[in-house]
Amino acid sequence: WNKIGLIGAMAEEIERIEERLTNEKVIDKAGIRFMEGTFCGKSVVLCRSGVGKVNAAVCTQLLIDQFGVDAIIFTGVAGALDPALDIGDIVISSDCMQHDMDASALGFPRGTIPFADTSVFPADQALVKLAVQAGERQESGRIVCGRVLSGDQFIADRDTVKLLHEQLGGTCTEMEGSAVAQVCAMNGIPYVVIRSMSDKADGSAHVNFAEFTVKAADRSYSIVERMVSSL
Ligand code: ADE
Repeated sequence: WNKIGLIGAMAEEIERIEERLTNEKVIDKAGIRFMEGTFCGKSVVLCRSGVGKVNAAVCTQLLIDQFGVDAIIFTGVAGALDPALDIGDIVISSDCMQHDMDASALGFPRGTIPFADTSVFPADQALVKLAVQAGERQESGRIVCGRVLSGDQFIADRDTVKLLHEQLGGTCTEMEGSAVAQVCAMNGIPYVVIRSMSDKADGSAHVNFAEFTVKAADRSYSIVERMVSSL
C-alpha cells in the first residue's frame, strides 16, 4: 500500500493522528478537510468524515478519486452488541452490513439491499490480520473480529441490541463503517474498521458515550498507530 486513507467520524477519533501528522497539506472538499501527510513513516490522507453513512460514503469516494488512496482504515468508537464485550474492548471488522436498510415490507430480509449482489461487505483479510496483531500487543482488554453493523441511528435500547446481535449477527454498532465498506467494495479498495466500545448501546449508552468516547477512541488509535508502523 502506497497511500492509506485514515477516517474517523468525530474530532475525538482523529485528533491523536492529527497530532502526529507531519509534512501536512490541507485540502477542503465537499465540506470535509483532508490532511495529506506522513504518519508513522507512511503516506496517509487523514480526514474527519462527519457522522453518518452519507458523510462516510462521500468521504470514502473522495479519498479514492481525488487522493488515490489504495487502502482505507476507519478508526473510532462503537456501541457493543455482543454481551461478552465491555466498554474499551476492541472490534476489528470481519465484515460490515447496514442494519437500517429495511425493505422487509417487500419481502427482502432486513439489512439486505434490494436487487444488489451482496449486502455484506468483507474487510480485507491482510488488513484485519495486521489490526489483530497490533491489538494483541495492546496491554489490556479484549480484541475480537466480528460484524460491524452501521445505521443512521444512535442505538440506546436493549431490545434493539438483542435484535441486531441475534438476527443480524452484529458484534458492534456504529454509524459509518458499512458505508465505507460498500464504497470500498464498489471501487475494489481494501478496508478495515477498528472500533473500541464506548458503550453497550443500551439505556445507559448516552451517558457512557459521553464519559468513555475519548478513552475508547484512544484505544482504537493505538491499534492504528501500531498497525501503520508495521506496514
Ligand atoms: N457509536 C458509539 N456508540 C454508538 C451507539 N450506541 N449507536 C450508534 N453509534 C455509536
